[in-house]
This record gives sequence, structure tokens and C-alpha cells, in this order.
Amino acid sequence: MHVSLRQLQIFEAVARSLSYTRAAEELHLTQPAVFTQIKQLEESVALPLLERIGKRLHLTDAGREVLATSRDMLGGLERLEMRLADMQGLKKGKLRIAIVTTAKYLIPRLLGEFCTRYPGIEAALTVTNREKLLARLADNVDDLVVLGAPPEHLDVVATPIAENPLVVVARHDHPLADKKKIPLKRLATESFILREPGSGTRLATERHFEQHGIVPRVRMELGSNEAIKQAIAGGLGISVLSSHTLALDGERGPLQVLDVVGFPLRRQWYVAYPRGKNLSAVAEAFLAHLLPSLR
Ligand code: PGA
Repeated sequence: MHVSLRQLQIFEAVARSLSYTRAAEELHLTQPAVFTQIKQLEESVALPLLERIGKRLHLTDAGREVLATSRDMLGGLERLEMRLADMQGLKKGKLRIAIVTTAKYLIPRLLGEFCTRYPGIEAALTVTNREKLLARLADNVDDLVVLGAPPEHLDVVATPIAENPLVVVARHDHPLADKKKIPLKRLATESFILREPGSGTRLATERHFEQHGIVPRVRMELGSNEAIKQAIAGGLGISVLSSHTLALDGERGPLQVLDVVGFPLRRQWYVAYPRGKNLSAVAEAFLAHLLPSLR
């Protein structure tokens, strides 16, 4: 059968409007050109597809069959076009990600892998604390955000991506360093270095202490995990940090995790976006990259 896609497209337009004139207008062709294409199509399939009864055009049985197949093929082409446009989107395009500070020990590596795979993608990564990140999420600033617990007052789609345990960190020569099963209340007399208000790490720590009726003695507030590590190393106190913040320090570093009852606090990172948001092809692909089950 020598049937062209163009003929099927013209036939679909004629069959839909049951008029050569309207189909010609729609396709920006002349009416005789449309008529000729339909005649050629009928010759190819060796059956009449349209018949004129009185003034009106009608589809024959063969015409209905050809129409159904034309629609399948044209629909398939349209879907193909969309998929190709999506792939094009992965060749070029922007990805805006915002993450909480603790996730900066994990996400940049995953983002690096992703960017190596799709070199045309321009990625922008913002690292901030939980409170600022929630404000960005509410304003729909980023494609995706990564945070330590799903937001309580925003309607979002949030999926867990990895463990984020919080541990008690001290200097390696701290008197509690080799003790086992240290009771939480023993920490009440220690000097604490806490993250700034608005930090998710701080929020989780404070909630845990509160649940156990303990008020930590806060010696200092610092706005960064790295600064807190330096302060611990400098002998200024102990802190509760994501265990990932210690990942690059190695065994022989100056810091040590204390064996405190109830720790590590089990937390997870979530990747999230506002419910109803239309994710770009790039964001979808990065999401799939983050979700281990889809990898
Ligand atoms: P933050 O993030 O302490 O930097 O706000 C950590 C978290 O929310 O788990």
C-alpha cells in the first residue's frame, strides 16, 4: 500500500469535518488539492472511503477503518514528538535545586553524576537552612528541594530519598568519649553549641530534648555545621549534627560520636515540590536519579 502520512492527515481532516472545503481551509491547501489526495488514497486502498448522498459526505465502512488507523498513527506521532521534545529538554535546560545544609554532603555528588550524564544542563544549587528553604518552597522558586522532614503547613509531594541520622558529637578527648550508653540527662550539664533558629537540625534536637524534659545549656549558636565542628574541635562544647557532616573527616579527625541512649535520631531527607507543580523534563529526570527505586 502506498499511503503517505500526509494523505492520512488530510483524510482525517476531511472525515472530521465531512467537507473538502473546510479541510482545505484547516490545512491551508486548495480544495482540488485535498480532493486529489483523497482520490489517490482511495486508489491505494482500492475502496471508496467517502460517498456523497444528496449534498452530504458520508464515511464508508472502509473510510471508518482508515480513519481509526489514521488517528492511531497521528496520535502516535504526536506522542513521539512530545517525547523527543522532552529528550531535547534533557540536552539543554536549567535545573534549580535548593537543599538544607546537611544535604550538601550528599546532593552535590548526585548532581555531579547527573550533570556528567547530561552535559548541556545548567544546574543551580542553593544551600540554606530549613526555614529559608520552606519560604522558597512556598514561593515555588525551585524545581525541587531537599529537606530533613516534610513541611507541616504546605501541600507538597515529598518522597524520602536517604537516611539522615543525627548524632551527638564531641571532641575525641571529651570525658564521655569512651563511655557506653550515656543517659540523655547526663548531657544536661554539658555546654552545647546549637545551630541557628530556623535550622531543621536544631528543631529536631530541641524537640528531642523537650520530649525528655531536658534543657540543654546553650553556650553558643552558629549558623553552619562546619563552624560548629570547628568550635567542638576548639573545645567549646558538644553538639547534635547530621552524621553526614562528619563523613569527609575520616576516623582520625578531632571529633567523635558519643554513644548516647536514644541516638542517633532517625531522620530522612525528602525531595519535595509543591503539589500540582508541572515538573520540567529535567526536573523529572533528576527526581528519578534521586529515587533509588527508579534508578
Ligand atoms: P538544616 O537542615 O539544619 O540546615 O535546616 C537539616 C534538616 O532540616 O534536616
